[in-house]
Amino acid sequence: MRLEIIILAAGQGTRMRSSLPKVLHRIGRESLLEHVYALAVSLDADKITVVYGHGGERVPRALPHLDVVWVEQAQQLGTGHAVMQAADGIDDQATVLILYGDVPLLTKETVARLLPLAGPESLGLLTAELADPQGYGRVLRNAEQRVVRIVEEKDASPTERMIREVNTGILAVQGRRLKHWLGRLANDNAQGEYYLTDIVALAVADGVSIQTVRAGCADEILGVNDRRQLAQLERVFQARQAARLMLAGVHLRDPARFDLRGELVAVGSDVEIDVNVILEGRVTLGDRVRIGPNSLIRDAEIGDDVEILANCVIENAVIGRGSRIGPFARLRPETRLAEEVHIGNFVEVKQSSIARRSKANHLAYIGDAIIGADVNVGAGTITCNYDGANKHQTVIEDGAFIGSNTALVAPVRVGVNATIGAGSVLTQDAPENALTLSRAQQVTRPGWQRPSKRS
Ligand code: UD1
Ligand code: CA
Repeated sequence: MRLEIIILAAGQGTRMRSSLPKVLHRIGRESLLEHVYALAVSLDADKITVVYGHGGERVPRALPHLDVVWVEQAQQLGTGHAVMQAADGIDDQATVLILYGDVPLLTKETVARLLPLAGPESLGLLTAELADPQGYGRVLRNAEQRVVRIVEEKDASPTERMIREVNTGILAVQGRRLKHWLGRLANDNAQGEYYLTDIVALAVADGVSIQTVRAGCADEILGVNDRRQLAQLERVFQARQAARLMLAGVHLRDPARFDLRGELVAVGSDVEIDVNVILEGRVTLGDRVRIGPNSLIRDAEIGDDVEILANCVIENAVIGRGSRIGPFARLRPETRLAEEVHIGNFVEVKQSSIARRSKANHLAYIGDAIIGADVNVGAGTITCNYDGANKHQTVIEDGAFIGSNTALVAPVRVGVNATIGAGSVLTQDAPENALTLSRAQQVTRPGWQRPSKRS
């Protein structure tokens, strides 16, 4: 059976109070529309059409990677009018599934139950029973419990508003039937709009039966109309991801204080993540990785037995097995750490590689550097990589010891097993196996008197 999916995404989203079209607001890393698109793709649709409108070309321009047919609804005259814009392209025999761009958490399992209900003599409608149905269209049933029509809240009588079974907006219908009913929609209602929901009453009048599916869980049919709901859905989405990770064996100290805005590409066993950790982009965690509280980790590959202590910011970095980072460390893009490297508090590393067992434990800046194995970078060491116009490289070879408060004025090289005396400003290469220092000689003046206050 041919499946065509139409995603409605033209509405303004007035209640968001935003200049951004509603469907471009994000949950996790992706926009609302990308969530719905991912669902459509997972259903193996033969064709996906997105109806866009408010904000003009902004929506298609923001999402050029979506493999869809974009159809413009220049004026937003209602959900029925939106579907009309796509009607010409609909195949008569196809099952047409309507999805809403602002209902992002719907699951494939639920939709899969709905699709077989569409046919020449029946229409599938997804409904839900809500404790608080406010804002949704209500499903009206007759004495035999058959659906007769949907009434929008704004058009509903006080008694109808007490109904708790709501229309989710999601429906599956035969292409030929849909096109026929679209042509008969009118806009004589409270909002002066062409309601897609009116096709339910038209179907009933044509003797077509309305088959309903109840959503597995009320959360999945929630729509985003304002920022409160956006935040609420973000938590639902995060809770789902957290549950998935915990079932896969990750120890989240508090799943309500964990955010994954992207993809955990791989995760080892016995990983432990403390509270307020945000993972972004593509992150890989090896076995027994421990992440302390309050860290932001983006696009990182973290090896086995790595420990990240509290309050670190890590971006586009590779961290080798057994390394220890933080607390309060910052790893900037293109940091490559080998095994058992220690990066301690208030240390910033940028575009540098550091080999096995090297340490920079306190207060340092390492930028554009290549550091060998077993190097000790003392507290307060700075690679002076920028001359105001260009960046230059610092090379520190295996076994070197950089005394505290050394300024390495790049380009500069420190040889194997070299020792740099504390407080040095290195402007030339330091040879291997030797002590190099550059600092004023220490002097003591015996008998020197402190000045005293004039009387
Ligand atoms: C709609 C349903 C309501 C249902 C609710 C579920 C109608 C008339 N009402 O109401 O029964 O309970 O969804 O969330 O369908 N859109 C367009 N073009 C338009 C108008 C809307 O593309 O002219 C899109 C919006 O971008 C949105 C979706 O259609 O993605 C729903 O529109 P919205 O205005 O939010 O409808 P609701 O009032 O929530
Ligand atoms: Ca809505």
